[in-house]
Amino acid sequence: MHFKTIIEPFRIKTVEPIRQTTRAEREQLLREAGYNLFLLPAEDVLIDLLTDSGTGAMSSGQWAGMMLGDESYAGAKSFYKFEAAVRRITGFKHIVPTHQGRAAERILFGSLLKPGDIVPNNTHFDTTRANVEYRHAEARDIPVAEARDPARVLPFKGNIDLAALEQTLSDHAGRVPLAMITVTNNSGGGQPVSMANIRAASEVCRRHGVLFFLDACRFAENAWFIKTREEGYADRTPLEIAQEMFSYADGCTMSAKKDGMANIGGFLALNDDALAERCKNMLILTEGFPTYGGLAGYDLEAIAVGLEEVLHEDYLQYRVRSVAYLGDILTANGVPIVQPPGGHAVYIDARTMLPHIPASQYPAWALSLALYLEGGIRSVEIGSVMFGRQPDGSEKPAAMELVRMAFPRRVYTQSHVDYLAEVILYVNSIKDSLRGVRIVSAPEVLRHFSARMAWLGA
Ligand code: F0G
Repeated sequence: MHFKTIIEPFRIKTVEPIRQTTRAEREQLLREAGYNLFLLPAEDVLIDLLTDSGTGAMSSGQWAGMMLGDESYAGAKSFYKFEAAVRRITGFKHIVPTHQGRAAERILFGSLLKPGDIVPNNTHFDTTRANVEYRHAEARDIPVAEARDPARVLPFKGNIDLAALEQTLSDHAGRVPLAMITVTNNSGGGQPVSMANIRAASEVCRRHGVLFFLDACRFAENAWFIKTREEGYADRTPLEIAQEMFSYADGCTMSAKKDGMANIGGFLALNDDALAERCKNMLILTEGFPTYGGLAGYDLEAIAVGLEEVLHEDYLQYRVRSVAYLGDILTANGVPIVQPPGGHAVYIDARTMLPHIPASQYPAWALSLALYLEGGIRSVEIGSVMFGRQPDGSEKPAAMELVRMAFPRRVYTQSHVDYLAEVILYVNSIKDSLRGVRIVSAPEVLRHFSARMAWLGA
C-alpha cells in the first residue's frame, strides 16, 4: 500500500510552550514596539515566522554532538569534523568558519571589493547588499524578468539573467571582482535556481576572469527543487546535486542558521589561496582564530551534523511540502502569493492584495502588522521599507511588496499551519479596511530592523 500523506519525519522530544494574547494586548504591544515587528518581545508572538534563520529545532543527533564539542582555541577536533562536513558537500579547499552568514560576507567583500566595484547577483539579500554598499561598491540585482511577476508559475524563477550578467561583465571589465547567485533566491520569493543556470553563469564568469560565488544559505532546498523539477536529476541524491552546484563555483558564503540546521554559525569557503589568506587574516582580527571563527566547538559540531541531516530526502520532501501546503490553501482561496511557493517561505503579494495602499504607504508592512494584530503571527516585510532607501538617500519603490512568512525548520506542525491559514484568510476578508503606514524615524542603513512606524490617519 502506498499512502499519500507526507508526515513530519520526526517525533517531538522537547516542547516549548507558546502563549496566546488578546487582540487588545496586541494593540498595546504594537504601539509599544513602534509598529515594528522586529521590536516585539518574542514571547508575545504566537507563531513566529519572522525568519527561518537560527530558529529551527535541532535533532537529538545534533544535541548529542554538542556534548562532544572540543573547545580548544586552536586545532579543535570539532573544527576538523566541521571542515570535513563542509568539504564533503562543497569540495572547496579553504573552509573558514564565521559566526553567521553576514560575517562571511563582510570578510569576503572586505578582502575583495574597492569603491566603484559592481557585484551582480540574482537578488542580494539585505545584509549582502548592505555589506557590498558598505565597501562603496554597487550591489546589482539581475534576476530573470519572470522573477518580477509574482503570479507566474515557473519552476526556476530564482535564475539570474544571463544576458544581463554577460552585459555587466563586458561593460564594466575590471570593476567586477565577483558575481554571485543566491540559492534559493530569498528576497525574490524563495525561488530556486536551476543547475543549468548555475552552470551557465559560471561559464560566463570564467570567460571574463571573474570569480563566481554562491550565497548558499538554502542550498539543500535548492537541490531538492532541482531534483524534483529539472530534467535529468530525478535519480540523483540531494548530496550529489549539491556537490554539482558547488562544483561550478569558486567559493560560497553560507549562513548555517538556515540549511546548516543550527541556531548560530556560518562559513566562507573558497579555492583561491591568496584570497583565502587575506580572508583568514581579517577573520583573526574580528571573528577569531581560523579553527573556530567566532563559534564554540559545540556549534561546529551542531553544524557538522546539521549539514548531514539537511540532505535527507524525507526531511527535504516534508520541508518543501509543508511550505507548499500553506501556499495551496491561500491560492485556493484567492490570496495572491508569489507563485509557486518557495522552499522556506510563503510570500504574500501585498501590492496585488492591497491595491488601495500605494508603495509610498508600505502595503506589505501594513499587512504584516494586521497579521500580528488579528492572529499573533509575526512575519516580515520584504518591500519598500526594507529596500526602498537608495544609497544616495532618495526613495524608490522596491521591485515587489511582499510579506514573507518563513518557516523555522522542524518547529511547527500542520495544525499551526491550519491556524495560520485561517488568520490570513480572515485578514484577506477585511483587507479593504487596512490602512497604510508611514516612517516616523529610521536609521540610514538596514532601517527595517529599528524604524519606528505609525498607522496613517492615526
Ligand atoms: N544571505 C541570504 C540569502 C540570507 O537569507 C541571509 C539571512 C544571509 C545571507 C545572512 O546570513 O543572517 O546568518 O548573517 N537571512 C535571514 C532571513 C536573516 O531572515 O532571511 P546571517
